[in-house]
Amino acid sequence: MSHAPSSVETLRWLADPAGMPAGDRLRLLDQTRLPGELVYLDMGTVAEVWEGIKSLRVRGAPAIGIAAAYGVCLACREVAQGSFDEVLEACRQAAESLATSRPTAVNLFWALDRMNRTMDGLSAQWAAANAAAADLGSPAAWLQRQLLATAVAIHEEDRRMCHAIGRYGAELVADGDHVLTHCNAGGLATAEYGTALSVFFTAQDQGKRLHVYVDETRPLLQGARLTAWELMQRQIDCTLICDNMAAHVMATRGVQAVVVGADRIAANGDTANKIGTYNLAVLANFHRVPFYVAAPSSTFDLSIASGREIPIEERQPEEITHSFGWQTAPAGVPVYNPAFDVTPANLIAGIITEMGLIRPVNRAQIEAVLQVV
Ligand code: MRU
Repeated sequence: MSHAPSSVETLRWLADPAGMPAGDRLRLLDQTRLPGELVYLDMGTVAEVWEGIKSLRVRGAPAIGIAAAYGVCLACREVAQGSFDEVLEACRQAAESLATSRPTAVNLFWALDRMNRTMDGLSAQWAAANAAAADLGSPAAWLQRQLLATAVAIHEEDRRMCHAIGRYGAELVADGDHVLTHCNAGGLATAEYGTALSVFFTAQDQGKRLHVYVDETRPLLQGARLTAWELMQRQIDCTLICDNMAAHVMATRGVQAVVVGADRIAANGDTANKIGTYNLAVLANFHRVPFYVAAPSSTFDLSIASGREIPIEERQPEEITHSFGWQTAPAGVPVYNPAFDVTPANLIAGIITEMGLIRPVNRAQIEAVLQVV
């Protein structure tokens, strides 16, 4: 049985038909409006992309990296009449600013590093191209073409990585399995197909019938609003549960695997993901359910030895005290709202990457599968 990929796109670059940077836009699906409304936002400034990432209009580690890469390209649009140096400087500043939008997902910094490395070579290339006396157009148009090539490559690579993760991950689940996931690591969080959800989508493509328990994912309900929606779009059998029901479900109903995404994986395999993931890993280990992380190589941060070094984003108290605008706690109550937690490597049965399955999860095996030289 074959299923077409969801027709809903997380993000898309809209090029000006006349080839003018000033007319280009980044189109984002506003994930804060799902599942009630399908609203696309056309963004033309770096500040809009920054706000879109900060407020989770675009979210999920790979997707925010892709959005930020396109965001850098929009800087060219903002100084369309500038000299080469002025436009390049605006792009550098855009990358610096976008890096402040969210701290935990390393894909954001990975994508911005790639944009910065592209920028490193552009002055020499511009000089050489001018010396060849070609008609290069304005500096802004030329710079944007070069930067866009890198942003599109990041976007396309993510699409391929997600499909490869699905192929490796689908081997770990069997027809009739009940699986459980947390937050949203689906097509909405990536270029397409997702990471954890790619495992389920690919299994479905192979004719396996799965049943997915979906943690609602307090406080912002990415599981309820986004994952349940994506699974239903694909006609995958699913049941929504509150986060605090997972132990009961494992004990009484049977779950064959837990599969989640990741925002940053340290060199020893410790994994940051949406708050509540660590709870699930503990529960899964207690109930002898294999706990898998699905993530592309762009989610690994091999510069840090362990999860203790992962910066954990703390968000506004109102996300807990005024869930979706309704006051659900007494005014003035102190609130702690970390958006992520770190699951220790020893609780993870395997990490599914586009380069293969990392099992057991330790530094040597990570380096072997990711072919770190
Ligand atoms: O705060 P969010 O919604 O951006 O958190 C997202 C997650 O924690 C996902 O599980 C993770 O980014 C993996 S997305 C493939």
